[in-house]
Amino acid sequence: MCGIIGIVGTAPVEARLIVSLKRLEYRGYDSAGVAGFTASGVERRRAAGKLKNLEAVLAAQPLIASVGIGHTRWATHGPPTVGNAHPHQAGRVTLVHNGIIENFAELKAALTAEGRVFQTDTDTEVVAQLLDRELGSKPPLAAFKATLDQVRGAFALVVMIDGEPGMLLGARNGPPLVIGHGDGEMFLGSDALAVGPFTNRVSYLEDGDFVAIEHGAARVFNQAGQPVDRPAQVVPQSPALMEKGNYRHFMEKEIHDQPEGCQRTIAAYVDALTARAAMPGGIDFAVLERIQIVACGTSYIAGLIGKYLIEPLADLPVDIEVASEFRYRQPALRPGSLVIAMSQSGETADTLAALRWCQARGMRSAAVVNAAGSTMAREVDVVWPIHCGPEIGVASTKAFTAQICVLTALAIAAARARGRIDAGEEQRLVRVLLEAPRLIAESINLEDAVRGVAAEVAKARDVLYLGRGPMYPLALEGALKLKEISYIHAEGYAAGELKHGPIALVDENTPIVILAPFDSYFEKSASNMSEVMARGGQVVFITDPEGQAHAPAGARVVVTTPRCDPLIAPLVMSAPIQLLAYHVAVLKGADVDQPRNLAKSVTVE
Ligand code: M6R
Repeated sequence: MCGIIGIVGTAPVEARLIVSLKRLEYRGYDSAGVAGFTASGVERRRAAGKLKNLEAVLAAQPLIASVGIGHTRWATHGPPTVGNAHPHQAGRVTLVHNGIIENFAELKAALTAEGRVFQTDTDTEVVAQLLDRELGSKPPLAAFKATLDQVRGAFALVVMIDGEPGMLLGARNGPPLVIGHGDGEMFLGSDALAVGPFTNRVSYLEDGDFVAIEHGAARVFNQAGQPVDRPAQVVPQSPALMEKGNYRHFMEKEIHDQPEGCQRTIAAYVDALTARAAMPGGIDFAVLERIQIVACGTSYIAGLIGKYLIEPLADLPVDIEVASEFRYRQPALRPGSLVIAMSQSGETADTLAALRWCQARGMRSAAVVNAAGSTMAREVDVVWPIHCGPEIGVASTKAFTAQICVLTALAIAAARARGRIDAGEEQRLVRVLLEAPRLIAESINLEDAVRGVAAEVAKARDVLYLGRGPMYPLALEGALKLKEISYIHAEGYAAGELKHGPIALVDENTPIVILAPFDSYFEKSASNMSEVMARGGQVVFITDPEGQAHAPAGARVVVTTPRCDPLIAPLVMSAPIQLLAYHVAVLKGADVDQPRNLAKSVTVE
């Protein structure tokens, strides 16, 4: 959940460390710090809070170095103070860490008993202390290996050793770490984006690997200490997608990116000329017995929408569960099932663990991911990339709709393979899906209307989102978006559950967002709307033109999305709930792209 970067450069690194940390800030922004080998030895600069605070420190006290490391923190152990900001130091060692050292308490006790004095509340400092102790009797690489052998947990580390000014050490166990191969320069970073401004040639460390980088060279070793080759690959760079352009926030830009993003996604899974759907990778849907989806957060909700699409269309059972529960409860799995990990980042710790759990039991595996070089993408049998480009805003938007596009194509392809639809129906459904980008764009054009709704919702303390069928997961997503960026308490509910509890929340101060296109569920949703209004509830009704015509009178606000086939209603109705959360957050002055306590990539449990 933290971002790390290391540069063995031939030119000054201060500005480059900051450029990279800006790209990594999505992983955490509780504090930031850098360190470098200067003319007078190892120096570090640190600041609590956002990166701009560190930039202010550096403006006052520049770091003159051509080899250095940097860190942006999402706090796990110890509050986000300057003292707990990385890099951490002990004796000759200065290091940055992403992850959690699980046995830090016992190591700390042992090191303290030996007389070592700890400066911070972090788990990370034990690694620095341990390595410094090992350096007392061993050369750097041997000391590093001996240290790694003693720590348990999830970590990516980049280390400087005083007296070794041309070298950085790195290690990976869990959270990713990549090597960037420059021109006479070498880099270590949390991901390809971190080293992207300097090189597009990247190697991925495997779990258990450690590495020494020097000018123009990287020596990689596996957990046993044997040299291994991790070949460099060229990764595509898309700098434009990393910029906000004319938008105020990445989230706003990414909402507006969706028509184009979904078009790219859909193009990868359907043939527009023949109007056929195809999922590359050789999964035989005709004989597949079951799909198990594992995911977290918004990716979980996209997977839930997938269940609503795949089961009725393809008569293929789909189980879906949040990965943090799934991985620990010994679920009963059957051979003949396919596990699908859904993840924007491809690095979420719980999803990765759930995926590996299934793989270890012999299940075939697929990943629907955005980050092509991510751990999940590299570990599964089949990758189904979502192709929507880097998503920077912590609140997931364009990855969500792109994930739904992949699952919609999968539903059509599986339905055809299983003989549930004929070629004509497949072509009709594919053409419906191909219409989605245009209709999403029309939905985004409702922004002014949604901004008006936001002014009302921003005054609320609680907001309820209701939906039936595929609109139920979308209600969950609306509530998740609102709470994560505006800090307003929100609940998403299956509308049919209203009378089983949540109706008690209804009063004249609680906006109730009802998502109800004119589909087979509409009448029941309309009844729920009447029940809410009868109790003074202020309804924000998100529907389509037919739904508007048939709605009970009295909704406080109606947002009318374009008419569409039920297959793509979750795609078309996503933009209003995303825009609603966005504009509420803006009105409340919240930090839209970097909401408090959150991070984009959750690589710790
Ligand atoms: O990278 P992933 O898709 O695996 O991330 C999963 C969740 O952490 C993520 O969707 C989170 O819920 C978002 N902040 C929601 O907007």
